[in-house]
Amino acid sequence: MPEGTFENHSVLVTGGSRGIGREIAWQLARQGARVALMARGLEDLEAAADGCRVEGARVLIVPGDVGSESDCAAAVADTISEFGSLDMLVANAGISMLSAFEDLDDLEPLERVMRVNYLGSVYCTRHALPHLIASRGRIVAVSSLTGLTGVPTRTGYAASKHAQRGFFDSLRIELQRRGVSVTVAYPGFVDTGIRERAVGKGTGRGSGRAMSAPECAARILVAAAHRRREIVMTPMRQLGLWLKLIAPDLVDRIAARSVKFRP
Ligand SMILES: NC(=O)c1ccc[n+]([C@@H]2O[C@H](COP(=O)([O-])OP(=O)(O)OC[C@H]3O[C@@H](n4cnc5c(N)ncnc54)[C@H](OP(=O)(O)O)[C@@H]3O)[C@@H](O)[C@H]2O)c1
Repeated sequence: MPEGTFENHSVLVTGGSRGIGREIAWQLARQGARVALMARGLEDLEAAADGCRVEGARVLIVPGDVGSESDCAAAVADTISEFGSLDMLVANAGISMLSAFEDLDDLEPLERVMRVNYLGSVYCTRHALPHLIASRGRIVAVSSLTGLTGVPTRTGYAASKHAQRGFFDSLRIELQRRGVSVTVAYPGFVDTGIRERAVGKGTGRGSGRAMSAPECAARILVAAAHRRREIVMTPMRQLGLWLKLIAPDLVDRIAARSVKFRP
């Protein structure tokens, strides 16, 4: 990563209280950034903020729900009033879903996942954008491999991540002349508690090695520092994208196996 890229940068990290977002916040703090953390749970937010302070960083807690546009507007406004500018938005807050579609009693889990993962990114981006244009800043969206290919038991999650991808791939082109870069990250399994907190009725464990949150966060920040358009986390997964073009049924079978689903 270019030395000192994020030094003195002002960054808003949604979902910054746990998992990948908290690691991104801690690594940014270590690099001398000022960090605002948005999430709903105050206790986790405070613990994550303490971790930033240990690195000597200025930190702000902005409690709120990304599924509420007014909470996103307030999070951006609080960040600006505390830090004076915004150089990067990390749209990371997200929830997962574990359930075969036919097992759902109603569609509330799909609506919730879409509101948090997709609309949550859109709301934060809308309110952050004037400030990011002013700073010629960066947007980083944390999607998922499930934003690139279908996965059984993740219908609603995959839909929200595909929607997020379409939104940011389009916005990237619009923002080229404004000097704002858009980096979309596509992690595979990462070792956080996201699956234990998933909506739906499934148990849905993954198979294979999960990447650690620190490794995932570090890779995302390198891509953001270089203003890359996207990062697909491992070479095997990059290979999977090519495979999908020539043998999509095989990729479907790999996806089913990865979540231990028997079609
Ligand atoms: N872990 C994986 O295997 C994996 C793989 C690919 C992609 N991802 C993506 O990476 C991102 C982070 O996931 P993670 O694994 O770090 O999850 P996590 O450990 O469960 O952390 C999720 C974070 O998002 C916050 N959050 C959830 N709902 C929110 C809401 N409505 N408003 C504001 N904040 C909210 C949580 O805090 P509160 O609950 O207190 O609000 C928490 O800070 C997600 O977008 C996820 O889809 C994860």
